Amino acid sequence: MSVERTTSLLEAIDWERGLHAGCGPIGYFLDPDRFVALERSGETLWLTLEEEGLVGVATGPLAAPRDQWSECLIDGPFPGSATVARVGGWDLLCRATLPSGSPAATTDDLEGVRRLLEVAAPTSSVWPGDPHVVAWFGEVANDRLVAVAALTRWASGRHIIASVATAPDERRHGHARRLMEEILVDAAHRGVDDVALGVGLENAGALQLYLGLGFVHRARLVRWRRLPLGA
Ligand SMILES: CC(C)(COP(=O)(O)OP(=O)(O)OC[C@H]1O[C@@H](n2cnc3c(N)ncnc32)[C@H](O)[C@@H]1OP(=O)(O)O)[C@@H](O)C(=O)NCCC(=O)NCCS
Repeated sequence: MSVERTTSLLEAIDWERGLHAGCGPIGYFLDPDRFVALERSGETLWLTLEEEGLVGVATGPLAAPRDQWSECLIDGPFPGSATVARVGGWDLLCRATLPSGSPAATTDDLEGVRRLLEVAAPTSSVWPGDPHVVAWFGEVANDRLVAVAALTRWASGRHIIASVATAPDERRHGHARRLMEEILVDAAHRGVDDVALGVGLENAGALQLYLGLGFVHRARLVRWRRLPLGA
Protein backbone atom coordinates (compact mmCIF):
# COMPACT_ATOMS: atom_id res chain seq x y z
CA MET A 1 0.00 0.00 0.00
CA SER A 2 1.32 3.46 -0.82
CA VAL A 3 0.89 6.11 1.85
CA GLU A 4 1.13 9.87 1.30
CA ARG A 5 1.96 12.18 4.21
CA THR A 6 1.54 15.91 4.77
CA THR A 7 2.62 18.14 7.63
CA SER A 8 0.71 21.12 6.17
CA LEU A 9 -2.55 21.76 8.01
CA LEU A 10 -4.04 23.46 4.91
CA GLU A 11 -3.24 20.44 2.75
CA ALA A 12 -4.68 18.16 5.46
CA ILE A 13 -7.93 20.16 5.40
CA ASP A 14 -8.02 19.76 1.59
CA TRP A 15 -7.44 16.00 1.78
CA GLU A 16 -10.19 15.60 4.38
CA ARG A 17 -12.61 17.69 2.30
CA GLY A 18 -11.73 15.74 -0.83
CA LEU A 19 -12.52 12.44 0.83
CA HIS A 20 -15.41 13.26 3.17
CA ALA A 21 -16.64 16.67 1.94
CA GLY A 22 -15.82 18.01 5.43
CA CYS A 23 -18.27 15.55 7.03
CA GLY A 24 -15.90 12.86 8.29
CA PRO A 25 -14.58 12.62 11.85
CA ILE A 26 -11.02 13.73 11.01
CA GLY A 27 -12.17 17.32 10.34
CA TYR A 28 -13.22 17.72 13.99
CA PHE A 29 -9.67 17.03 15.15
CA LEU A 30 -7.72 19.28 12.75
CA ASP A 31 -6.54 21.49 15.60
CA PRO A 32 -3.77 23.91 14.52
CA ASP A 33 -2.09 23.76 17.95
CA ARG A 34 -1.88 19.96 18.08
CA PHE A 35 -1.58 19.00 14.39
CA VAL A 36 1.53 16.97 13.48
CA ALA A 37 0.70 15.14 10.22
CA LEU A 38 -2.02 13.57 8.12
CA GLU A 39 -1.39 10.40 6.11
CA ARG A 40 -3.66 8.86 3.51
CA SER A 41 -3.96 5.72 1.47
CA GLY A 42 -7.07 5.33 -0.67
CA GLU A 43 -10.03 5.95 1.66
CA THR A 44 -8.02 5.64 4.88
CA LEU A 45 -6.77 8.67 6.83
CA TRP A 46 -4.39 8.68 9.81
CA LEU A 47 -4.16 11.95 11.76
CA THR A 48 -1.30 12.41 14.25
CA LEU A 49 -1.67 14.99 17.02
CA GLU A 50 0.66 16.15 19.78
CA GLU A 51 -0.89 15.81 23.22
CA GLU A 52 1.82 15.17 25.82
CA GLY A 53 3.17 12.61 23.31
CA LEU A 54 1.66 11.48 20.04
CA VAL A 55 -1.97 10.43 19.77
CA GLY A 56 -4.07 9.76 16.69
CA VAL A 57 -7.38 9.47 14.91
CA ALA A 58 -7.84 7.07 11.99
CA THR A 59 -10.78 6.40 9.73
CA GLY A 60 -11.42 4.11 6.78
CA PRO A 61 -10.92 0.47 5.77
CA LEU A 62 -7.24 0.26 6.83
CA ALA A 63 -7.64 2.33 10.01
CA ALA A 64 -5.46 0.95 12.82
CA PRO A 65 -3.25 2.42 15.55
CA ARG A 66 0.20 3.68 14.46
CA ASP A 67 3.14 2.40 16.53
CA GLN A 68 4.05 5.92 17.68
CA TRP A 69 0.57 6.67 19.09
CA SER A 70 0.08 6.21 22.83
CA GLU A 71 -3.69 6.48 22.42
CA CYS A 72 -6.08 6.84 19.50
CA LEU A 73 -9.62 6.87 18.17
CA ILE A 74 -10.32 4.43 15.34
CA ASP A 75 -13.35 4.56 13.03
CA GLY A 76 -12.87 1.42 10.99
CA PRO A 77 -12.91 -2.37 11.08
CA PHE A 78 -9.77 -2.66 13.29
CA PRO A 79 -10.33 -5.85 15.37
CA GLY A 80 -7.76 -5.08 18.10
CA SER A 81 -4.27 -6.45 18.72
CA ALA A 82 -2.05 -7.66 21.54
CA THR A 83 -0.36 -4.26 21.88
CA VAL A 84 -3.40 -2.02 22.49
CA ALA A 85 -6.37 -2.17 24.87
CA ARG A 86 -9.87 -0.96 24.09
CA VAL A 87 -10.83 1.76 26.59
CA GLY A 88 -14.28 2.89 25.52
CA GLY A 89 -15.44 5.03 22.66
CA TRP A 90 -18.27 7.15 21.35
CA ASP A 91 -20.55 7.68 18.39
CA LEU A 92 -20.18 10.95 16.48
CA LEU A 93 -23.52 12.36 15.32
CA CYS A 94 -24.29 15.58 13.52
CA ARG A 95 -27.06 17.58 11.88
CA ALA A 96 -27.81 20.96 10.34
CA THR A 97 -28.91 23.78 12.63
CA LEU A 98 -32.46 25.19 12.51
CA PRO A 99 -32.81 28.67 11.00
CA SER A 100 -36.33 29.22 12.41
CA GLY A 101 -38.02 28.52 15.71
CA SER A 102 -37.49 29.81 19.23
CA PRO A 103 -33.87 29.95 20.38
CA ALA A 104 -32.70 28.45 23.65
CA ALA A 105 -32.29 30.63 26.72
CA THR A 106 -28.67 31.05 27.69
CA THR A 107 -27.85 30.88 31.38
CA ASP A 108 -25.15 32.66 33.35
CA ASP A 109 -25.95 30.63 36.48
CA LEU A 110 -22.70 28.71 36.14
CA GLU A 111 -22.80 27.52 39.74
CA GLY A 112 -26.27 26.07 39.05
CA VAL A 113 -24.94 24.38 35.89
CA ARG A 114 -22.06 22.88 37.87
CA ARG A 115 -24.37 21.57 40.60
CA LEU A 116 -26.72 20.00 38.06
CA LEU A 117 -23.85 18.33 36.15
CA GLU A 118 -22.41 16.96 39.39
CA VAL A 119 -25.70 15.20 40.11
CA ALA A 120 -26.95 14.39 36.60
CA ALA A 121 -23.83 13.84 34.48
CA PRO A 122 -20.66 13.73 36.61
CA THR A 123 -18.53 12.32 33.76
CA SER A 124 -19.35 15.23 31.43
CA SER A 125 -16.39 16.36 29.36
CA VAL A 126 -17.21 20.08 29.48
CA TRP A 127 -17.73 22.14 32.66
CA PRO A 128 -18.25 25.83 33.45
CA GLY A 129 -14.97 27.65 32.86
CA ASP A 130 -13.99 25.52 29.83
CA PRO A 131 -12.57 27.95 27.23
CA HIS A 132 -14.27 26.11 24.33
CA VAL A 133 -17.76 27.00 25.58
CA VAL A 134 -19.62 29.50 23.36
CA ALA A 135 -22.74 29.52 25.61
CA TRP A 136 -24.45 27.54 28.34
CA PHE A 137 -28.17 26.92 27.98
CA GLY A 138 -30.65 25.97 30.65
CA GLU A 139 -34.26 24.97 30.93
CA VAL A 140 -36.02 26.23 34.06
CA ALA A 141 -39.16 24.66 35.56
CA ASN A 142 -40.75 25.92 38.78
CA ASP A 143 -37.84 28.36 39.27
CA ARG A 144 -35.34 25.50 39.15
CA LEU A 145 -32.67 24.67 36.54
CA VAL A 146 -33.75 21.21 35.32
CA ALA A 147 -31.77 20.70 32.09
CA VAL A 148 -28.53 22.12 30.72
CA ALA A 149 -26.24 21.87 27.71
CA ALA A 150 -23.29 23.76 26.25
CA LEU A 151 -22.54 24.88 22.71
CA THR A 152 -18.78 24.59 22.26
CA ARG A 153 -16.36 25.46 19.48
CA TRP A 154 -13.39 23.16 19.11
CA ALA A 155 -9.99 24.43 17.96
CA SER A 156 -10.75 22.90 14.53
CA GLY A 157 -13.58 25.46 14.23
CA ARG A 158 -16.30 22.79 14.46
CA HIS A 159 -19.24 23.29 16.85
CA ILE A 160 -20.14 20.56 19.31
CA ILE A 161 -23.02 20.35 21.78
CA ALA A 162 -21.75 18.93 25.05
CA SER A 163 -22.73 18.27 28.66
CA VAL A 164 -26.41 17.63 27.91
CA ALA A 165 -28.06 16.69 31.21
CA THR A 166 -31.46 16.61 32.87
CA ALA A 167 -32.01 16.41 36.63
CA PRO A 168 -32.70 12.75 37.52
CA ASP A 169 -36.20 13.51 38.90
CA GLU A 170 -37.17 15.46 35.75
CA ARG A 171 -36.25 12.90 33.09
CA ARG A 172 -38.63 11.80 30.31
CA HIS A 173 -40.59 15.06 30.48
CA GLY A 174 -39.16 16.31 27.18
CA HIS A 175 -36.73 18.83 28.73
CA ALA A 176 -33.65 17.66 26.83
CA ARG A 177 -35.52 17.35 23.52
CA ARG A 178 -36.88 20.90 23.83
CA LEU A 179 -33.56 22.35 24.93
CA MET A 180 -31.70 20.63 22.06
CA GLU A 181 -34.20 21.88 19.46
CA GLU A 182 -33.84 25.41 20.80
CA ILE A 183 -30.04 25.16 20.81
CA LEU A 184 -30.18 24.19 17.12
CA VAL A 185 -32.06 27.47 16.50
CA ASP A 186 -29.68 29.50 18.68
CA ALA A 187 -26.67 28.03 16.85
CA ALA A 188 -28.18 28.97 13.46
CA HIS A 189 -28.65 32.54 14.74
CA ARG A 190 -24.94 32.56 15.61
CA GLY A 191 -24.08 31.67 12.01
CA VAL A 192 -23.31 28.00 12.70
CA ASP A 193 -24.47 25.68 9.87
CA ASP A 194 -24.08 22.31 11.55
CA VAL A 195 -23.36 20.89 14.96
CA ALA A 196 -22.08 17.55 16.19
CA LEU A 197 -22.04 15.66 19.45
CA GLY A 198 -20.49 12.58 20.95
CA VAL A 199 -22.49 9.85 22.66
CA GLY A 200 -20.85 7.19 24.83
CA LEU A 201 -21.30 3.72 23.29
CA GLU A 202 -23.22 2.56 26.36
CA ASN A 203 -25.65 5.52 26.36
CA ALA A 204 -28.63 4.07 24.45
CA GLY A 205 -31.11 6.58 25.93
CA ALA A 206 -29.14 9.63 24.78
CA LEU A 207 -28.58 8.05 21.34
CA GLN A 208 -32.35 7.61 21.04
CA LEU A 209 -32.86 11.25 22.01
CA TYR A 210 -30.46 12.55 19.31
CA LEU A 211 -31.64 10.22 16.52
CA GLY A 212 -35.19 11.37 17.30
CA LEU A 213 -34.01 14.96 16.81
CA GLY A 214 -32.72 14.16 13.33
CA PHE A 215 -29.03 13.76 14.15
CA VAL A 216 -27.20 11.43 11.74
CA HIS A 217 -24.56 8.89 12.73
CA ARG A 218 -21.16 9.83 11.22
CA ALA A 219 -18.60 7.61 12.94
CA ARG A 220 -18.04 5.10 15.72
CA LEU A 221 -14.82 6.19 17.36
CA VAL A 222 -13.38 3.37 19.44
CA ARG A 223 -10.66 4.48 21.85
CA TRP A 224 -7.50 2.33 22.05
CA ARG A 225 -4.58 2.76 24.44
CA ARG A 226 -1.12 1.29 23.91
CA LEU A 227 -0.18 -1.30 26.50
CA PRO A 228 3.12 -0.87 28.35
CA LEU A 229 5.89 -3.09 26.95
CA GLY A 230 5.72 -6.53 28.53
CA ALA A 231 2.10 -6.11 29.65
C1 LIG B 1 -29.99 11.70 28.20
C2 LIG B 1 -30.79 12.74 28.99
C3 LIG B 1 -30.14 14.09 28.81
C4 LIG B 1 -32.23 12.76 28.44
O1 LIG B 1 -32.91 13.83 29.08
P1 LIG B 1 -34.52 13.87 29.22
O2 LIG B 1 -34.88 15.26 29.56
O3 LIG B 1 -34.95 12.79 30.10
O4 LIG B 1 -34.94 13.51 27.72
P2 LIG B 1 -36.38 13.79 27.06
O5 LIG B 1 -37.44 13.60 28.09
O6 LIG B 1 -36.35 15.07 26.33
O7 LIG B 1 -36.44 12.58 26.02
C5 LIG B 1 -36.76 12.77 24.66
C6 LIG B 1 -36.69 11.42 23.95
O8 LIG B 1 -35.36 10.90 24.04
C7 LIG B 1 -35.41 9.48 24.20
N1 LIG B 1 -34.92 9.12 25.53
C8 LIG B 1 -34.51 9.95 26.51
N2 LIG B 1 -34.05 9.25 27.57
C9 LIG B 1 -34.18 7.94 27.24
C10 LIG B 1 -33.87 6.72 27.92
N3 LIG B 1 -33.34 6.70 29.14
N4 LIG B 1 -34.12 5.55 27.26
C11 LIG B 1 -34.64 5.55 26.03
N5 LIG B 1 -34.96 6.68 25.33
C12 LIG B 1 -34.73 7.85 25.94
C13 LIG B 1 -36.87 9.10 24.06
O9 LIG B 1 -37.13 8.90 22.69
C14 LIG B 1 -37.55 10.37 24.56
O10 LIG B 1 -38.86 10.49 24.08
P3 LIG B 1 -40.10 9.81 24.89
O11 LIG B 1 -39.90 10.12 26.35
O12 LIG B 1 -41.27 10.49 24.27
O13 LIG B 1 -39.99 8.34 24.61
C15 LIG B 1 -30.87 12.34 30.51
O14 LIG B 1 -31.27 11.00 30.63
C16 LIG B 1 -29.58 12.53 31.27
O15 LIG B 1 -29.30 13.61 31.80
N6 LIG B 1 -28.75 11.47 31.32
C17 LIG B 1 -27.46 11.53 32.01
C18 LIG B 1 -26.47 12.40 31.28
C19 LIG B 1 -26.32 11.96 29.83
O16 LIG B 1 -26.22 10.78 29.53
N7 LIG B 1 -26.28 12.97 28.93
C20 LIG B 1 -26.11 12.74 27.52
C21 LIG B 1 -24.66 12.76 27.17
S1 LIG B 1 -24.41 12.45 25.44
